[in-house]
Amino acid sequence: NNVPVVTVDGPSGVGKGTISQLLAKRLGWHFLDSGALYRLTALAARRHGVALDDEEALSGLAGSLDVRFEAGEHGGTALVFLENRDVTDDIRKEECGSDASVVAALLPVREALLQRQRAFRRSPGLVADGRDMGTAVFPDAPAKIFLTASPEVRAERRYNQLKQKGLDVNLPSLLREIAERDERDSNRSASPLRPAEDAIVIDTSELGVQDVFEQVMSAIAEKI
Ligand code: C5P
Repeated sequence: NNVPVVTVDGPSGVGKGTISQLLAKRLGWHFLDSGALYRLTALAARRHGVALDDEEALSGLAGSLDVRFEAGEHGGTALVFLENRDVTDDIRKEECGSDASVVAALLPVREALLQRQRAFRRSPGLVADGRDMGTAVFPDAPAKIFLTASPEVRAERRYNQLKQKGLDVNLPSLLREIAERDERDSNRSASPLRPAEDAIVIDTSELGVQDVFEQVMSAIAEKI
């Protein structure tokens, strides 16, 4: 597959989603939110009463997920449907993210989602957002970005984001959840969170969205 891919990996709350979507829009490329697939698997498990440690049932669910992504109005955030129900807001809840990181540690679940993720690689190009886009899913991507920021900064960003959506949130508990999720994502044996050897690492702690976007654009300019 010669279609170019830019991978954007990093821990939760680092701003990957925002940057990847801006990038996809600027380049006119497709966008893969791989975290949404793990979130949807976790949500489907809850709905179908599947335990979060039942590897076989979970990988079955992941392999047969009935999902649909629909472009939002005026190019806004995409709507996400699971079994024909709108779950756009449900999958963004912190609890769903935390469940997602539990199911994401299971190798059979990751394998079941691999082909589905690779199918997003269509002309003219793909921006792929996740944890292992550069290391496991698209190791041959010509341009790889890894974003980092301190847990405190990420918790604060997530806090503002959720608050803006009118959700009831609490900063100390967000910080705790982010730290737990980091720990699980970094220490699992299946595709742990780490930068690919050929990734460009950008620390965004002190940067605004526009600064990060510009740094990413100039980092990938000669590679795509
Ligand atoms: O990025 P997001 O917060 O939506 O991802 C939810 C969870 O899914 C992460 O905490 C991580 O455990 C898992 N995930 C993953 N690999 C990816 C994307 C997400 O393991 N490529």
